[in-house]
Amino acid sequence: MLADSVLIIGAGRAGLSVAVALARAGWLVQLVARRAERRAEVTAWLDRCGVNLDVLAAPTLAKLVVLAVPDRSLAVAGQALVTADAVAPDAVWLHLSGAAPWHVLRVAGGASELAGMHPLAALPDPLDLDDANAALRPLRGATFAVAGTDRAAALARELVGVLGGRAVRVADDARSLYHAAAALAANDLVALLHVAEGAAIAAGLAPEDARVGLTHLMQTALDAVRRLPPDAPLRLGLTGAVARGDAATLARHMDALAAHDRTAALLHAELSSQLVDLVRDGGLGPAALAALDTVLAQVPGRPQ
Ligand SMILES: NC(=O)c1ccc[n+]([C@@H]2O[C@H](COP(=O)([O-])OP(=O)(O)OC[C@H]3O[C@@H](n4cnc5c(N)ncnc54)[C@H](OP(=O)(O)O)[C@@H]3O)[C@@H](O)[C@H]2O)c1
Repeated sequence: MLADSVLIIGAGRAGLSVAVALARAGWLVQLVARRAERRAEVTAWLDRCGVNLDVLAAPTLAKLVVLAVPDRSLAVAGQALVTADAVAPDAVWLHLSGAAPWHVLRVAGGASELAGMHPLAALPDPLDLDDANAALRPLRGATFAVAGTDRAAALARELVGVLGGRAVRVADDARSLYHAAAALAANDLVALLHVAEGAAIAAGLAPEDARVGLTHLMQTALDAVRRLPPDAPLRLGLTGAVARGDAATLARHMDALAAHDRTAALLHAELSSQLVDLVRDGGLGPAALAALDTVLAQVPGRPQ
């Protein structure tokens, strides 16, 4: 083991989640929360959850530092460690950003061993959760994009293992595309829910019923895909009109959505055309595929 103590800068969603996970794994964790109010709230929550870690007002000397601050503040927070004389010889600094390259942490007088370790996970504020286990869950099994100098990246991979995740490498020049993929999968899913809720409410569901019903449906749809071996075609986990080759139902959906909201109709048409591509290489015959293609080609406003 390369380390078992860590200083985490930033007691927000990611910093506190990682802090709790490492403390639960037996690491000595010091967590910097710069605002007194947040410090008090975090300390009270940790006490309630029985998690043992130190919440500090300012950084202290540390060999391993995780900067869990917003991307725009990474260089500033690194500089603040230098100003506070909190850079140990041989220090390793890691950040959790998906968009920022690892070398954003390079500041004069700072650590020379630097890496990024971005978890592909949506981390809520642990203070909104009932117990520490709920804060650990999103990190367990998460894939982390790790890149940096040799020793820092090795340490980051070790940390990922302790957090119950898996590490992959993402080249610096592919970082924006990698992060866009993450935004598509996570943030855009919420946008999709927003559009689906609008349609369900217009169909007469109470807003609460739309939320409960559609989030359960989304979860079960994702579960069906996650149950597949990771190299299996996605179509094997797909249900619904396209998977069944049911062009008549797809046409009715398109008509109903077009009457409700043109943007929703166009969104559904684009996504359905991706699904038709998924089923093109298996499962459906040429006549069924042609019927689906015809329905989508007739949606007004779609590029031909
Ligand atoms: N949340 C997620 O789902 C998630 C997932 C993967 C990666 N990440 C990454 O994790 C990092 C932090 O994101 P987050 O979601 O945890 O943000 P957040 O909830 O807004 O927390 C950021 C924390 O950093 C503190 N902070 C800001 N500037 C600081 C500075 N100069 N010095 C010390 N502390 C400072 C903030 O304190 P104040 O309250 O005092 O401003 C706040 O506690 C980002 O790089 C993000 O990309 C987040």
